[in-house]
Amino acid sequence: MRFEPSTLTTEQAIELENKYGAHNYHPLPVVISRGEGVFLWDVEGKKYYDFLAAYSAVNQGHCHPRIIQALIDQATKLTLTSRAFHNDVLGEYEEFMTRLFGFDKLLPMNTGVEGGETAIKLARRWGYDVKGVKKHDAKIIFAEGNFWGRTLSAISASTDPTSYTGFGPYMPGFEIVPYHDIPALEKHLRIRMLLLLW
Ligand SMILES: Cc1ncc(COP(=O)(O)O)c(C=O)c1O
Repeated sequence: MRFEPSTLTTEQAIELENKYGAHNYHPLPVVISRGEGVFLWDVEGKKYYDFLAAYSAVNQGHCHPRIIQALIDQATKLTLTSRAFHNDVLGEYEEFMTRLFGFDKLLPMNTGVEGGETAIKLARRWGYDVKGVKKHDAKIIFAEGNFWGRTLSAISASTDPTSYTGFGPYMPGFEIVPYHDIPALEKHLRIRMLLLLW
């Protein structure tokens, strides 16, 4: 039997996810169907304050009317160009964001984990091109207990068996130091320096 989302009960919605969705997250047993500003409503109409804001992705509040209108305006005019072409809004957006955050350049990403992946690529490339690190010898040091997503790189940096188990082989060149342990980090960096000089 097919349900419209708003006609589902909490139990039915969770059952459908459990049956047809991959079990890669374990959400709280709350089924949200509507949001406005700081408020959320579940399928039974219970109202909540949203103190999580999708881990900050909706800090501006749910369904902000100006953002929704901008989405509608753009999607109605031009949905997608891919990066095969230029378009008339990307450069303007990049100029605004670089000025706002004080950086020279910008590379937009769709997700958080892509941001992490790109940061690693940038660090490696800078190591090779600017610092003269030997080809394929770059090391990236992570703090123990990190979580930054579920790609192969992210789980290769993870110390949580529920994240990485069963997905090897893992990304080479990653090292882990205990969180908030500066001497351990210094030790890793000193070893790297010695190896570089040698
Ligand atoms: C702390 C943290 N970093 C990164 C991510 C990955 O973000 P995304 O799901 O947008 O790739 C998450 C996702 O839950 C997260 O909680």
